[in-house]
Amino acid sequence: MPHKPPNVIAIYPGSFDPITNGHLDLIERGSRLFDRLIVSILRNESKRPLFSVEERMEMLREVIDVYPNVTVDSFDGLLVDHAAAHSATVLLRGIRAISDYEFELQMALMNRRLRPELETIFMMSHEAYSFISSRLVKEVFGLGGNISGLVPPSVEARLERRLSQLQLEGV
Ligand code: PNS
Repeated sequence: MPHKPPNVIAIYPGSFDPITNGHLDLIERGSRLFDRLIVSILRNESKRPLFSVEERMEMLREVIDVYPNVTVDSFDGLLVDHAAAHSATVLLRGIRAISDYEFELQMALMNRRLRPELETIFMMSHEAYSFISSRLVKEVFGLGGNISGLVPPSVEARLERRLSQLQLEGV
């Protein structure tokens, strides 16, 4: 196994549809641990996303510009290949509850098998955000519930615009 590289580059992969304050908390903490943190959005998503990859990248850029060592990217295909293309040695993932563990363990072990030199590092979600998911935020917002404090204000504004657009289209 090679020694620690002089610059530790980490990839934080996900769907981010949309980014929540739970994701943002992980980004902030990750930015203090790694020399560079790349937040990467999966492009070939099987779930039907609410926001396009470009919109999600814009939303991320709006909130990460306070962290000089954090950038935004997107990827197709295998995550380990994307990480290798960026010379990343760490994959960062958040764990909210024990229910996340099984899927995360499977992914981490598969990624380790595919590329053993890449280490998955898990961070526990902040307790204030451990119940938040993008899916629940969209559901609550779509049904008229209050989501302030769960997503950044810029994301809440985008959700409002998207909801009125969908209502106009009669979706
Ligand atoms: O935010 P999500 O939806 O939980 O993120 C899941 C993600 C994007 C990390 C995962 O689906 C992924 O890495 N997909 C890329 C395809 C891949 O490499 N699959 C094999 C490794 S399990």
